[in-house]
Amino acid sequence: MQVFITGASGHVASAVIPELIDEGHQVVGLARSDDAAAVVAERGAEVVRGDLTDLDVLRSAATDADGVIHLAFRHDLMQVGDMAGAAASDLDAVRVLAEALAGTGKPIVGTSGTAMIAMMGITDRPGTEADVFEGGYRIDAENVILASAERGVRSSVVRLPPSVHSDLDQHGFVPGLIGFARDNGFAGYLGDGTNRWPAVHTRDAARLYRLAVESAPAGSVLHAVGDEGVEFREIAAAIGNGLGIPTAAVESVDAPQRFGYLARFVGVNNPTSAERTRALLTWKPEQPGLIEDIDAGHYFA
Ligand SMILES: NC(=O)c1ccc[n+]([C@@H]2O[C@H](COP(=O)([O-])OP(=O)(O)OC[C@H]3O[C@@H](n4cnc5c(N)ncnc54)[C@H](OP(=O)(O)O)[C@@H]3O)[C@@H](O)[C@H]2O)c1
Repeated sequence: MQVFITGASGHVASAVIPELIDEGHQVVGLARSDDAAAVVAERGAEVVRGDLTDLDVLRSAATDADGVIHLAFRHDLMQVGDMAGAAASDLDAVRVLAEALAGTGKPIVGTSGTAMIAMMGITDRPGTEADVFEGGYRIDAENVILASAERGVRSSVVRLPPSVHSDLDQHGFVPGLIGFARDNGFAGYLGDGTNRWPAVHTRDAARLYRLAVESAPAGSVLHAVGDEGVEFREIAAAIGNGLGIPTAAVESVDAPQRFGYLARFVGVNNPTSAERTRALLTWKPEQPGLIEDIDAGHYFA
């Protein structure tokens, strides 16, 4: 299968591209700069030059492919607090990608986050793949992709946990938390730190993306979750241990100052089940869990 991937120069794609190539697929990756193009080519993919906002480029590359994996996201906007702008750009892109595949039966695999389940108010039980919502941040894009199943697209959405972790992770949530801990002189958590974050190893997530593009039934919501929920104070303790600094509780009012762009995520209680995903695609996480991975030391090298 020839798979068109957006976000091909990013972290998750650094495992998805080799996973696909190792299984005999060809990959065409979107790159918006010379640097990104060099990274994508180095990963073994053919390069298509363009920005996420170049909708004609997206349409054409999706049309030419046998399937699409959409990983790009305007984190630059998210990090300056423009969540609406980031979500709107994502929505424009998924509309075009899904439309390009309408009536073909080809697969599109979109990307969302398990954190949206908590942000939609489900915090008192593990979120499941059956939790779908009318609308909201990143949910609108989920819904466009899932609805394309009605128009002859074998669509699925992978929800990633806040922490997709591994030695491939240079600027995700864990490096972000480590950076804030260094600046603060302590590894912080909110309140009593018993809120739970799910997590997945990058290579386990990559296998799920490959299985999804190969065979997920149309309209599937998939949870790329290895650890169902790790208490945030344990994450802080592992980071504190790695940096040789103490852990400390942070009051909610101080969260923006202490955790910057991660403030809205740090206190989230987001236990998440992947039971249906595991059964549906015979997917089983095999890599180390979050705490074992932080304890391995590569984040502090
Ligand atoms: N990693 C996590 O912990 C995590 C957790 C939950 C959800 N997710 C979601 O998973 C997806 C992949 O995440 P990731 O960790 O791989 O992200 P990442 O490492 O930040 O990579 C983002 C990718 O998007 C591309 N991109 C950004 N703006 C673009 C634009 N205007 N035009 C074209 N390409 C653009 C980047 O290209 P450049 O190289 O040119 O910047 C890069 O290839 C995203 O939707 C993300 O929100 C990730």
